[in-house]
Amino acid sequence: MKNDSEKKLSTESYKGVRDFYPEDMAIQNYIFSVMGKVAKKFGYQEYGASVLEPSELYHAKSGEEIVNEQTYTFLDRGDRSVTLRPEMTPTVARMVANKRRELIFPVRWYSIPNLFRYEKPQRGRLREHWQLNVDIFGVESIQAEVEIISVASEIMRAYGVKDSQFEIRINNRKIVNYILETLMGLSTETAGKVAKAIDRKEKVSHEVFGKMITDIVGEKDNFLLTLLSSKNLEEFVERLPEDGKLHDGIVEIKTLIQALEKLGISNVVFDQTLMRGFDYYTGIVFEVFDLNPDNRRSLFGGGRYDDLLQIFGEEKVPTVGFGMGDVTIRDVLETYGLIPSQKNSICLCICTVGNEHIDYAQELAQKLRAKEVSVIVDYSGKKVGDQIKRADKRGIPFIVCVGDDEVKTGEFKLKNLKTGEEKIVTEENLTSLLKN
Ligand code: HAM
Repeated sequence: MKNDSEKKLSTESYKGVRDFYPEDMAIQNYIFSVMGKVAKKFGYQEYGASVLEPSELYHAKSGEEIVNEQTYTFLDRGDRSVTLRPEMTPTVARMVANKRRELIFPVRWYSIPNLFRYEKPQRGRLREHWQLNVDIFGVESIQAEVEIISVASEIMRAYGVKDSQFEIRINNRKIVNYILETLMGLSTETAGKVAKAIDRKEKVSHEVFGKMITDIVGEKDNFLLTLLSSKNLEEFVERLPEDGKLHDGIVEIKTLIQALEKLGISNVVFDQTLMRGFDYYTGIVFEVFDLNPDNRRSLFGGGRYDDLLQIFGEEKVPTVGFGMGDVTIRDVLETYGLIPSQKNSICLCICTVGNEHIDYAQELAQKLRAKEVSVIVDYSGKKVGDQIKRADKRGIPFIVCVGDDEVKTGEFKLKNLKTGEEKIVTEENLTSLLKN
């Protein structure tokens, strides 16, 4: 038997997390850069925080599934329970609560944290993902939802996804609560069970779903199942009793759809089955879906959560926000061929004819770097032809070779490896040529 020190270690990463080789990192950076650019355009400022949080932060409002089944939680050396953040919302709420008196509201913040959830790894779902979080704190009116959904829509457009390719589905927790608690008279606990069952509607067959509902609500199932099967907002409202037709939650949905329409965002649909898994949402909730059946997972999820700051003993701060994952958007961009080809960040390779030319090449490289040109020196000692071939394989666009003549004259033959074009240049005009 081999002892531990002889065992070969696996080169695979931990299950459900990713290594980012340079090609992947370039794509990831592109994805982040679009997120950041759009968030900034809407006036959102970037913030950050640690991946470690005291576990109790998630017990109050995140929801049982996340806390009991999906968190990475451990005891630190001082016996404190610590959790790797599974989402950013409790953290940002904590940060706002902590500085509440100094902040100028409305606060518009964004961040792109990595989050950890112990999920079964599958397409669109991993154990570590990065998630753009965009939240606006301190706005009570529906204008906050209008703005936040506009940010979401603008991000999709900035990636080049067409409005006809994705859908923004919205619902309102106020309507859900009105139906389950006021109209059906269910306790908060039973209503919670129904909401969880509805959340699973798409994952089970029609019959199984019907049975799940009947098991929880008994003979009231028909009313609920009929409402849930409504084809659109009009039909849904039609099936509500008179006072329900004018319910706050319905009015908000209609106002929101109209306001977004005026801003040119018309791919918004009412979805009475959209629940969202977190306990902290209090009003409008929304998710963004790609309409291509290959990408069945939501791209964005968010909504209004007016009460979360109360867990820190603070007064309510009306808040709306969303999270958008890097995994699902990458799947979508790949599906539609929307990932731009990456430019090589190295601009020039200086090949060296002999070892005696390396010092000169290094000095030349330093001078060019001082002028912001990205340069590498090939000091491998290999034949110049091989050095050039290797530069070409790496996708480096330009080379110069340094030998006795170049050292003597200070003139170089700059070769464009893509076109084969050659030009005699001096050290001075090398920079300006390479920067163009
Ligand atoms: P969420 O729906 O859990 O919401 O996540 C938002 C998005 O993050 C999802 O639509 C998906 O794109 C991505 N995502 C979530 N879990 C995973 C995973 N395991 N692997 C890959 N991607 C994933 C929240 O987290 C809320 N805290 C968002 C929010 C911010 N609400 C208000 N402000």
